[in-house]
Amino acid sequence: MKLDTQGSRVSEAAFARSELRLSAYLEHLRNVARTKTYAYNESSINLPTDTKLFDLALQTAKKFKNRHLKFIIVVGIGGSNLGTKAVYDATFGAYDVMHPERLPKMLFADTCDPRLLRSLEDVLKTITHPDEIVINLVSKSGGTTESVVNAEILLATLARRITHPEQRLVITTDVDSKLWKLAEEKGMEHLPIPDLVGGRFSVMSPVGIFPLALAGIDVKALMKGAQTMRERCLSTTHENPALTSATVIFAHLHGHPKNINDTFFFHPELESLGKWYRQLMGESLGKPKTRSKKEVKIVPTPTVSIGSTDLHSMGQLYLGGPNDKVTTFVSSKKTAHVNVPKKRMLSGLVENVDGKDAAEVMNAILHGVIAAYRKQHVPFMQLELDDLSPASLGAFLQFKMIEMMMLGELLDVNAFDQPQVELYKIETKKLLV
Ligand code: PA5
Repeated sequence: MKLDTQGSRVSEAAFARSELRLSAYLEHLRNVARTKTYAYNESSINLPTDTKLFDLALQTAKKFKNRHLKFIIVVGIGGSNLGTKAVYDATFGAYDVMHPERLPKMLFADTCDPRLLRSLEDVLKTITHPDEIVINLVSKSGGTTESVVNAEILLATLARRITHPEQRLVITTDVDSKLWKLAEEKGMEHLPIPDLVGGRFSVMSPVGIFPLALAGIDVKALMKGAQTMRERCLSTTHENPALTSATVIFAHLHGHPKNINDTFFFHPELESLGKWYRQLMGESLGKPKTRSKKEVKIVPTPTVSIGSTDLHSMGQLYLGGPNDKVTTFVSSKKTAHVNVPKKRMLSGLVENVDGKDAAEVMNAILHGVIAAYRKQHVPFMQLELDDLSPASLGAFLQFKMIEMMMLGELLDVNAFDQPQVELYKIETKKLLV
């Protein structure tokens, strides 16, 4: 993974200042890593090296995996499903629907949308044997309305197809939640989430590892990628991408502030990864007060764009609208290869593409956009992933989680809580009385 900040318009002095401001925090992160415990807010950085927890998730996946498995339904919302969906979609893409023969398929029940639930019920009605299905209910608190309602509906439907639907249910939750106790009482399979690991930092815990392993994704490589990246992001060198990226985002919140943080993925299959990052930034930094109780004046608002699709909808705003955004272009050279025919049926419409690889066309578009951003003085960074393998995805996830911890530190906000998310949950419960 390479991060290029030449287009960021941030001075060497700003990088030096940020390095200085973060030096004690970096030492703290290194200390958290040395303890190998879950005693700190930042302890999610210890997940990629926690072989015990990893093996537990992997062994559970092995127990449920078999050659008849057709569907894994992940019931969870926010931090409880976004990381899993990010890795699954990045691996199999939106075009997974074009490969109906590739099984098992992972399906997601997040919100309580009746049409989504009706479709999932239709899927469950095709089940003829318990081995064909696993439902993974993921909820850190164990009491999120959407997740509990969805699980109840799906389990009731499954009960009409198989005798013991609860035996095809795996629960992932906090050890002290009511859901954990219920799973214990009823003898249902259950996996823990370490207490201080919040939903948006939990993808390397059983939250992500169990369903991804069950879906056949190389979770060992995912963890290895995260481990290697963790070492890079805890180092003091200029090669620390988390520190570099956090500095660029933070620096642009001052002077003529650029508080929109756009991650522009040049791979449509990374859209869910963008949504995972959107939650990571939104929930970590969207706080009313600093840790020293001062009013928070400005934080970045994350947006996700897909190249080249969104150039045809948002390009005008990005290049012609207010200069209030910092963009990170994310791409990878290693992708599939498909060529435009040399002898074309639609010749004379677009020049200079005869025989060209579609990847070369995409690359020209990416570099065309970058040139236009430069001309318009719109600041950007370029992130080149080695490829879209599990190792690269693990590296990206870990890089961004540490970047967010550093941004929390620079902005002096608690990056690990989400008190205002609870507000809607409480109001919803009142309305359902
Ligand atoms: O990251 C978070 O903490 C939230 O997005 C939660 O994951 C989300 O609200 C779902 O909560 P729970 O995992 O407790 O069901």
